[in-house]
Amino acid sequence: VREYKFVVLGTGGVGKSALTVRYVQDFFLIRYDPTIEDSYRKTTLIEGESVVLEILDTAGTEQFTAMRDLYMKNGHGFILVYSITSQSSFVDLRDMHQMILRVKDVEKVPLVLCGNKCDLVDQRVISTEQGTNLGLEIGASFYESSALQGLNVEELFVDLVKQVNKM
Ligand code: GTP
Ligand code: MG
Repeated sequence: VREYKFVVLGTGGVGKSALTVRYVQDFFLIRYDPTIEDSYRKTTLIEGESVVLEILDTAGTEQFTAMRDLYMKNGHGFILVYSITSQSSFVDLRDMHQMILRVKDVEKVPLVLCGNKCDLVDQRVISTEQGTNLGLEIGASFYESSALQGLNVEELFVDLVKQVNKM
């Protein structure tokens, strides 16, 4: 069985844990409890093959960043999450992308860009077009998702498996 190590990155509160829990356990995390670091395993069928995903749900909060180098080195694929309701969470992702490339010492990695909380339509500050453009710029697939509604959640992970398979 093939194993994939994925890392979910992004500013605090954008919904990294909610997306991961929605995907792995299929429920919505309502309460905000800042993550230090959590790891999840899911066995599933993707492209007709049984695969094991090991998903690292990281801390958005600065004080926990010491572990970053190690998990970036070990990750096969990365999900960069922002919230469509937060300008700063969107801006932060460029630096995180650069950090991944620097730590892994590569020019390209399997990457998914995710604009989460797309159910919060009246709080939107980042347009779909801005997301699309950033995705093109950093070479990532782009989705808008809602962990609350379970919209485009599985797609993030399946896309990343397909990218790793093509490498
Ligand atoms: P850190 O662990 O601190 O880095 O935060 P995080 O990115 O893991 O955020 P978390 O998943 O804990 O979500 C933060 C808050 O946003 C929680 O109250 C979630 O219920 C809420 N939330 C997450 N995803 C969504 C979503 O798609 N829609 C809405 N409306 N709320 C969401
Ligand atoms: Mg979290």
